[in-house]
Amino acid sequence: MTASFPDDFLFGTATASYQIEGAANEDGRCPSIWDTFSHTGHTLGGDTGDVACDSYHRWEEDLDLLADLGVDAYRFSVAMPRVMPVEGGAPNPKGLDFYERIVDGLLARGIKPIVTLYHWDLPQYLGDQGGWLNRDTAYRVAEYAGVVAHRLGDRVHTYTTLNEPWCSSYLSYGGTEHAPGLGGGPKAFAAVHHLNLAHGLMTQAIRGEAGDGPELSVTLNLQMNRGDADAVHRLDLIANRAFLDPMLRGYYPEELFAVTRGICDWSFVQDGDLEQIHQPIDVLGINYYSTNRVAMSGRPQFPQSATASTAPGASDVDWLPTEGPHTDMGWNIDPDGLHDLLVRTYDQYRLPMVVTENGMACRDELVVEADGTKAVHDAERIEYVRRHLEAVSRAMTEGVPMRGYFVWSLLDNFEWAFGYAKRFGIVYMDYETLERTPKDSFRWYRGVIANRGL
Ligand code: FCB
Repeated sequence: MTASFPDDFLFGTATASYQIEGAANEDGRCPSIWDTFSHTGHTLGGDTGDVACDSYHRWEEDLDLLADLGVDAYRFSVAMPRVMPVEGGAPNPKGLDFYERIVDGLLARGIKPIVTLYHWDLPQYLGDQGGWLNRDTAYRVAEYAGVVAHRLGDRVHTYTTLNEPWCSSYLSYGGTEHAPGLGGGPKAFAAVHHLNLAHGLMTQAIRGEAGDGPELSVTLNLQMNRGDADAVHRLDLIANRAFLDPMLRGYYPEELFAVTRGICDWSFVQDGDLEQIHQPIDVLGINYYSTNRVAMSGRPQFPQSATASTAPGASDVDWLPTEGPHTDMGWNIDPDGLHDLLVRTYDQYRLPMVVTENGMACRDELVVEADGTKAVHDAERIEYVRRHLEAVSRAMTEGVPMRGYFVWSLLDNFEWAFGYAKRFGIVYMDYETLERTPKDSFRWYRGVIANRGL
């Protein structure tokens, strides 16, 4: 074996509510900002999550796939629009029932539930009031987290407050790529802060309702930038430390204020907020796909403050082409980047970590074999996962406490702005028939899990 993993290391796969559930108008669910975004022409081909993988109805089939795969844990997300569909109203029992069935169904199959509370599907009624630009959103989302934790309690192994707040702030309010697509550049810093505040309030609400049993975490897509030291440092402040430092150290770096002077006054940070944000968590979730190459451009730093940007405060940084090979997303393949990121993050923050997402979009083709069975031969994905697992193992050998690894994703699904054009699953989805076909990577991963190693 080139890498072996301890018995308590969690092998799993991950999904998210809006990407797989469908049933957009059922059992009282209200629209989310992603329903609005996808229905107003912001996704490739006009794709929406209305049906997606129909997992809302086919959840048992999906749990059986997980059991067949032999995973230790399954990371999925709860949709606030199902649980709190009415502004100011009571929780929706049908929404809670659905997630309770999933949790109990997982436990019955010997699989640990890892629950993400916010994976981007904010109710539209909160979006209408400014979404994450509005401080009140943090309080509403924390209340919802408490409602879910009250119902699911300590049956959940790990509660994750937020998935990738970088995306739900910079990509959504700074740029235009994700819902609501505001394109307000530095306005995104208010969303950053309100997401941080939500994280802190959510952890407290969850602890209060579910007790000390479940682990608490947050999942960040930390950037691994390579190149010019000044450019790397700038982006580290804006993209990484803007979340890590308040959550894990209780402050924003002074340098972050310095590099955003003139475009943001940070007046939305109120007295006491940092104490609320800085709550103990047990494990840090890391989503990792690729790396960037960056350089200082020589341009002035702040041309116009209102320009759409996913990196406000870094208008003088250039993104350079990365070395191939690239995935079907155009992302480079750099397993060393994962190793380096884990080592660096542990060095700085000393928390155990889980790779909560890692995987590859491929141009998968469904083939019918001579014996009539359907198959997808995704050798590239197997190689991608194998090399990244090796990188995790290397970090562990060097003393980094890694608790698990989750392949994104169990199923091909609604890949946000790219709709159904990008396939990340280890199970192939036929979007016409909703038939699920395990790919070669599924069988290979099953072997890795069974052998607890490569
Ligand atoms: C991450 C998201 C996840 C999925 C993958 C490919 O940014 O958390 O929902 O879309 O990328």
